[in-house]
Amino acid sequence: MAEETKINILKELTDKLEKERDLTDEEFKLMLESDEPEFVEYLTSKARKVREEYYGKDVYLRGLIEFSNYCKNNCIYCGIRRDNKNVERYRLTEEEILSCADLGYDLGFRTIVLQGGEDMYFSDEIMVSLIKKIKEKHPDIALTLSIGEREKESYRKMFEAGADRYLLRHETADREHYEMLHPAEMSFEHRMNCLKDLKEIGYQVGCGMMLGSPYQKTEHLIKDLRFLKEFEPEMVGVGPFIPHHDTPFASFEAGGLDITIKILAMVRLILPKVLLPATTALGTIDPFGREKGLMAGANVIMPNLSPTDVRGKYLLYDNKICTGDEAAECIRCMAARVEKTGYKVVQTRGDHFGFKKQ
Ligand code: SAM
Ligand code: FES
Repeated sequence: MAEETKINILKELTDKLEKERDLTDEEFKLMLESDEPEFVEYLTSKARKVREEYYGKDVYLRGLIEFSNYCKNNCIYCGIRRDNKNVERYRLTEEEILSCADLGYDLGFRTIVLQGGEDMYFSDEIMVSLIKKIKEKHPDIALTLSIGEREKESYRKMFEAGADRYLLRHETADREHYEMLHPAEMSFEHRMNCLKDLKEIGYQVGCGMMLGSPYQKTEHLIKDLRFLKEFEPEMVGVGPFIPHHDTPFASFEAGGLDITIKILAMVRLILPKVLLPATTALGTIDPFGREKGLMAGANVIMPNLSPTDVRGKYLLYDNKICTGDEAAECIRCMAARVEKTGYKVVQTRGDHFGFKKQ
């Protein structure tokens, strides 16, 4: 196919995706496997236009507290997997978590994210007490949880205690691929059921996948995009896979910048109102990765609020950025970086467009 004809087709497909929020498998495949700069510029400018229709120039900040790196799971790609005996394990105390949340509040964060491995020390009772304490002290924040798979009753108790949102990446929408990334004891069905449970309970839900993960094919990405369209999550977390030297996937290549940028833009066109972070992993594979993500339709940044002495122990992958800076420094740095893109950091909860608190 002549270059010019191909670019025209790709532009038409971009317009079709914007209008219909869907394409045939062949059309998705062509977009996913094309990297002509003129097409990518067209796609990302459409994604910016759509994000600005709903969110203007605003970028929402989420203060991330990585409160435990203990994990009962053994996800093959993950640096803090159970079998990695070289990790120095830590668990923040309730006081430490509360003081991180206070610091975040003082720095202007109006969403706090509690993320950790699946650490059974944090029982429902402990989580409920923690959530209530944070929400009593700071009723105007949104509280997001990212603590993996639990039973529906547990999700419900935490929601009733005041948690607002939940991030649980589906990792891949293809069962066989899921089984290549996880040990046999983990179940694709259970993960997908957890997402359904979270939605039924009333959380604003986030799912998502790693890009360029081992054995990933274009067909898997097409399934991911179809799953996102059908599930309609409020948030989508996508970032490149990056190898960790102490995992069985140590010798695999990291996912690329180009595919991440394209998927961000396509997700924005499929789910125009979605909350879409430019992730730390994206900032790790490219020094301006997060800025490039914002220019491709992302509208959320998640600076780290964890105490500096534990940052270096929550390493999901190698060369993770921002492991040394104080939280105040992170927020200053991010605000300056965001401003250079023409967008601006705002101090609000940053709920999904149209969300009404019950
Ligand atoms: N335990 C919770 C869970 O499973 O959802 C939250 C923590 S888990 C470390 C958060 C996310 O990190 C995972 O969903 C996965 O997509 C991402 N992650 C883990 N290892 C990674 C790697 N090597 N490269 C990029 N992302 C990774
Ligand atoms: Fe549990 Fe990664 S294996 S957080």
